[in-house]
Amino acid sequence: MSEILKAIASRSSIRSYTGEKLTDAELDALLDAGLRAPTATNRQELHFTVVDGGDPILFEIQDAMGPRLRPTLNFWYDGPTVILISGESAFRWTAVDAGIAVENIALAAEALGLGSVILGCLKAEMVGERRNRYAEFFRFPEGYDFQIAIAVGRKGAEKEPHTYDRAKQVTVL
Ligand SMILES: Cc1cc2nc3c(=O)[nH]c(=O)nc-3n(C[C@H](O)[C@H](O)[C@H](O)COP(=O)(O)O)c2cc1C
Repeated sequence: MSEILKAIASRSSIRSYTGEKLTDAELDALLDAGLRAPTATNRQELHFTVVDGGDPILFEIQDAMGPRLRPTLNFWYDGPTVILISGESAFRWTAVDAGIAVENIALAAEALGLGSVILGCLKAEMVGERRNRYAEFFRFPEGYDFQIAIAVGRKGAEKEPHTYDRAKQVTVL
């Protein structure tokens, strides 16, 4: 199987990480994967903000969210690096483009032997006055809004890829 198909088949959401940081080369490769993702009309309307997993702003967002899953787990599962993707709010394909970019990053992480989990739960917090504070802190460009995020790090536990019901989800005419 090709390397890319292997990464697609073996990727799963990892919700446990060792404390070890990513290397600069790993982070560069992940960002490159996001930047190489296609965007509608090649608009390149996405922005990537890299946040250290220990950054107090993440804990502030966590506090605003309240406990999730188990009180001991924060929403980024103590991943050492979180990448937030913001995008031009007025462009009709921004959400799709951000989804493609975040999956490129997830697959790149898998190919590098790292774990990742896509994080949509922040979206509900990116509203009202707090939205403006976060947009400024994360340096979203003017007219951009949060789209999606991903936590990446070394896997603290393995997880089997999800199963699926091909017959239910696929129609071949
Ligand atoms: C758009 C999107 C948002 C997600 N948001 C979260 C999230 O906020 N927290 C989380 O733990 N997992 C999140 N996930 C991960 C999904 O729960 C996960 O992909 C799904 O359960 C399938 O499992 P797998 O990724 O291991 O195949 C998100 C996934 C997607 C695609």
